[in-house]
Amino acid sequence: MEFENRSIVSVNQFDLAGLDTLFDLARRMKPIAARQARSNVLDGYILGNLFFEPSTRTRMSFASAFMRLGGQVNSTTGTVNSSLAKGESLADTITMIQSYCDVIVMRHHQRGAAAEAAAVSSVPVINAGDGNGEHPTQALQDLFTILEERPGRGVDGMTIAVVGDLKFGRCVPSLVNLLCLHAGVRFLFVAPPELQIPGAILRGVRDMGCQAIRTSNLDAALEEADVVYLTRIQDERIADAKVRATVRGSYVLTRAKVESRCRKDTVILHPLPRIDELHTDVDSLPNAAYFRQAANSILVRMALLLLVLGKQADVG
Ligand code: NCD
Repeated sequence: MEFENRSIVSVNQFDLAGLDTLFDLARRMKPIAARQARSNVLDGYILGNLFFEPSTRTRMSFASAFMRLGGQVNSTTGTVNSSLAKGESLADTITMIQSYCDVIVMRHHQRGAAAEAAAVSSVPVINAGDGNGEHPTQALQDLFTILEERPGRGVDGMTIAVVGDLKFGRCVPSLVNLLCLHAGVRFLFVAPPELQIPGAILRGVRDMGCQAIRTSNLDAALEEADVVYLTRIQDERIADAKVRATVRGSYVLTRAKVESRCRKDTVILHPLPRIDELHTDVDSLPNAAYFRQAANSILVRMALLLLVLGKQADVG
């Protein structure tokens, strides 16, 4: 796949060769991210970091990734502090901002907003989350982490328990689509009925030749899983207060549960932030990989930024 000067709005743009290119480059970023090596390959470049929805990890890791490569970051957060609050259209905002920077990273509360921005932008737009649509760079770092945590075993034929709010989140659809590029992945979708994976995604998984089971039995799924991907309840997107009350606390992963149900090498992931579904007593287990997953975001985002800017050959 072509990266240079391309916007990244969906995981559907990726193929296996593109993932290999990205992840090989991400691995080469390790010494730079750890400051064992210096690079100024993006000296003179400016990232427009537009976060119209709350973010800590994604916003800061994109900024740090760019700065580690010698670039500078110009950012805006929230709609209150931007001209969107005055009623400016997204198209006008982007048309203007494209002349202030070389690449745009954008998070927006509306599904489809990244595609809308990419359509009017002359510089690449990277989707950092568009409402309940997609979160492609999160899925890329999730897949990268699975590969890093399971050296030599890869993804083909793996069983993944995807647990939590599978209906209102955007990380799960993106990750599921990326995993479906691999052969024989088996999905156990574990959620209360109100938060179960939408039928269209389930059918998509099966159409791509992967197995998918919906269940509410967390214990049984943990026993089978090679990877557990836990997510928080997306309270901000669940309009019905009764549903919010019903599902609260309906699944919780504790150390006792992990130790009694999972294998020692079952990789435990979470895109974070966590609320109460992932107990802090899990953190010190060697297979609790979610903070390493968050750290990997720097590597993957450095690599993606270099590729869309066509600077990968200059990084040394
Ligand atoms: C996720 C998001 O924004 O969708 N956060 C993140 O970028 N790591 C997950 C979430 O908010 O639950």
